[in-house]
Amino acid sequence: MTEDDMDALGLAATLSQSYVRGISKRRVFPGDMELVSLEAFREPWPDGPSPAAETIRLLDAAGSPATVATTGSRYFGFVTGGALPAALAADWMVSAWDQPAALPILSPAVAAIESAAARWVLEALNLPTSAAVSFPTGASYGNLIALAAARRAVLLRQNYDVDELGLRGAPPFRVIISDEAHSTLIKGLGVLGIGRQAVEIVPTDDQGRMRLEALPPLDDSTIVCVQAGNVNSGSFDPIADIAARTKAAGAWLHVDGAFGLWARAAPQLAHLAAGIEHADSWVTDGHKWLNTPYDCGIVICRDPQALHGAMSITAAYMPEGEIVPAKDRLIEFSRRARGVTVWAAMRVLGRQGLSNLIETCCKHAQTLRAGLLKMGWTIHNDVILNQVVASYESGERTELIRTAVNAEGICWFGPTRWRGQDAIRMSVSSWATAEGDIEAALDAISAAMISTAQSPTPSS
Ligand SMILES: Cc1ncc(COP(=O)(O)O)c(C=O)c1O
Repeated sequence: MTEDDMDALGLAATLSQSYVRGISKRRVFPGDMELVSLEAFREPWPDGPSPAAETIRLLDAAGSPATVATTGSRYFGFVTGGALPAALAADWMVSAWDQPAALPILSPAVAAIESAAARWVLEALNLPTSAAVSFPTGASYGNLIALAAARRAVLLRQNYDVDELGLRGAPPFRVIISDEAHSTLIKGLGVLGIGRQAVEIVPTDDQGRMRLEALPPLDDSTIVCVQAGNVNSGSFDPIADIAARTKAAGAWLHVDGAFGLWARAAPQLAHLAAGIEHADSWVTDGHKWLNTPYDCGIVICRDPQALHGAMSITAAYMPEGEIVPAKDRLIEFSRRARGVTVWAAMRVLGRQGLSNLIETCCKHAQTLRAGLLKMGWTIHNDVILNQVVASYESGERTELIRTAVNAEGICWFGPTRWRGQDAIRMSVSSWATAEGDIEAALDAISAAMISTAQSPTPSS
C-alpha cells in the first residue's frame, strides 16, 4: 500500500463529503456545461499506471458535475430514494471490508449484521418473524427470486421438481398478474421461462388496482402476483380480499411492494397494506423508500424451505433451525454485503424515524397535490401515498412545462402515461425533502407555466 493509495482513500472521503454537503446546491439534472466534463472519459487507456489520488480527483472533477442529484432534496423522478448519510457511510465500510458475503465462513461479520437487518425488516413490515430474508440488487431481482421459489413450490405440490427436471415436461401451473404489473416483474416471467404471455391478466380500475370481480378462480397450482404501491398512482391491489381467496384455494400469493410495502412501517398508512401479511412472498427495496444507497433490494419468503429449495443446489432439505447461508437464499454466490446498509439505515432511523420518513413523504405529496390543483392542474390519482400524477391543459402543454422546469435545474420529475393520458409523475421518496423543497418545486412549475404560455406546442 503506497502513500498515493492512502491519499486516494482520504481524497475519496473528502470529495464525497463535499458532494453530499453541496448536493442541494447543484442543478438536479446536469446542464450542457456540466455534461461537457464527460469529455474527460474519452481519454485512451493509459499504457502505464496512473496515480491513484489523481484518478479519484479526475473522477470527481469530471464525473460529479454530470451526476443527477438523486440524493438531493428536489429529485422527484421515477421512485428514487435518496441515501441516508449513515447508510452511505456504512456502504463505504462495506467497500473497505470487501467481503464476498456468501457464507458465514467468508464473513462472520456480514452474516451477523445481515441477520440483524433481516430481523428488523420483518419487524418494521410486520411480517412473520420466521420468514426468510435476503438482499438482492433490487425489486426486479427480488421478484425473479420469489417467482422461482413460487414456481418450485406449486410444482412440488404436483410431485414435480422443476429445478431438477426443468420446465419441459412440467405439469401445468398458472400465473396471474394485473395489467398494471411492473415491467420488471413481467421481464422476470420471461427470464424464468414461464412466458410473458403465458399468464392470466386481470384488468384494473382507474387507480390501477386489480379488479377483484375479474380475478379468475384459483387453485393450488396458481401463483397470484399483486402490487403494493403502483409505480404511477401509488395504489394498492385489494390484497386482503385476494389473500382470502389464495388462502382458500391453496394458491401462492406474491406481493411486489418495491416501495409501497414500507407503508406498513407507518401507523397512519399501514391500513393501505392490510392483509399483506397473509402472502407467501414479498419484495421491496432498500434503495427506494428506506433510502439506502444503490443497490439494495429485499426478498422475503414465508416458508424458508421454499426459498432455500429454489436457491440452493446442494440440499433439498435444510435441517430444522439451521441458518441458511446467504448464497442459498438468492442467486449469486459472491455478492456485495448490501444488507449492511439496511442495518445502518434502520438503526439510525429507529422505529419512529422510519415511520416519520414515510409519513412525511406522503404529506409532501399532499402539498404538491394541493399546490398543483390551486394552479389549475388536473390530478389523475387519489394521492394516498407518495405519488402524484398530474397534467395541465393537454399532454403537449404538460410536456412543455415539464421540460422547462427540468431545464431550470431546480427540481426534476418524469413524464408518464396514465390511463391513456400523457402526464407528469412526481414521487416523493427522499429523506432529504423538506417543505421548502416542495414550495421551490411548485414555484418552478408556476414560473414554467408562465414562461411556456406563449410557446407553440409540438402539435400546433
Ligand atoms: C412496483 C415496482 N416493482 C418493481 C420495481 C423495480 O425495482 P428495481 O428498480 O429496484 O429493480 C419498481 C421500480 O420502480 C416498482 O415500482
